Amino acid sequence: MTNDPSVHHTVPSSLGVGRLYDEQTEIVQTEIVDGAAVDGNIHVGYWDSATDDRSLNQATDRLTDLVAGRLAAAPGQRLLDVGCGTGRPALRIARATGARVSGISVSNQDIDLARTRADATALADRVDFRYADACALPFDVASFDGAWAIESMMHISDRTIALTEIARTLRPGSPLVITDVLLRSPVTGDTADLVRQTCRAFQSPSLPEPAELRTSLDRAGLEVVEFHDIGEHVRRTYQAFADAFDDVAPSVDDPHYEFFHSTRSLPRFGALPQIGYAFLVARRR
Ligand SMILES: C[S@@+](CC[C@H](N)C(=O)[O-])C[C@H]1O[C@@H](n2cnc3c(N)ncnc32)[C@H](O)[C@@H]1O
Repeated sequence: MTNDPSVHHTVPSSLGVGRLYDEQTEIVQTEIVDGAAVDGNIHVGYWDSATDDRSLNQATDRLTDLVAGRLAAAPGQRLLDVGCGTGRPALRIARATGARVSGISVSNQDIDLARTRADATALADRVDFRYADACALPFDVASFDGAWAIESMMHISDRTIALTEIARTLRPGSPLVITDVLLRSPVTGDTADLVRQTCRAFQSPSLPEPAELRTSLDRAGLEVVEFHDIGEHVRRTYQAFADAFDDVAPSVDDPHYEFFHSTRSLPRFGALPQIGYAFLVARRR
């Protein structure tokens, strides 16, 4: 699979992405929460080494902490979370930095859960969550001192448009941190089928590729200052997610059956050498 439009499968709209998270987010959060497997972070975990024995939950918080470190925000500053999920990363970063955070998502269910999560903390006056598309942000020029996008870019068809929008809302010199699944090199045959099938299940029109990301960032007026492929630090996630989803596998007649069934191939997908993980920092020029 490449980013050549002629080989794309059906391009999901942000409505389709929203529906995915409307339908799955609460299940993932509430059903698995007792086993403390996912608990609100909808992203990969980061393990320092093969002997790092962090749980999936601890490792996903660790990825959030790495993002927070690169934002280096100060109390009173404003940050934007593009694709905020259930708000756990936003609250963690608001708490760690003292900054104010605005989170957006194309899932109404995400926004409801994020607001509920915020209301249960002492941070409710420093965070806000609203339904919005990254490609049409409801914020003024230069509103933010920093932004991040954890695993939302993979859902967006035209990443240049979204990045241009994000850049518009950043003050010059401010950082944007992106973390996302990365297609290191093109895939063919059965491997391409597996990648395509996984993308379809997770509403991704195409996985970001390193050159494409760099080009889109550049066109958006964002200068890349760090670009790491941390694929080997996050690979454990795919098996851990599949195990967690397996524990709550619904019956065949359940409306969520198809999604959960598709997660069974996650370990095979995650083991592909072509699958990496981008951790990058760019600055608004
Ligand atoms: C894999 S989840 C990650 C959630 C959150 N960042 C986290 O790490 O827990 C992807 C998120 O991106 C959001 N998203 C996808 N496409 C979007 C778009 N075009 N505009 C805004 N949010 C979007 C989804 O609704 C979802 O909240």
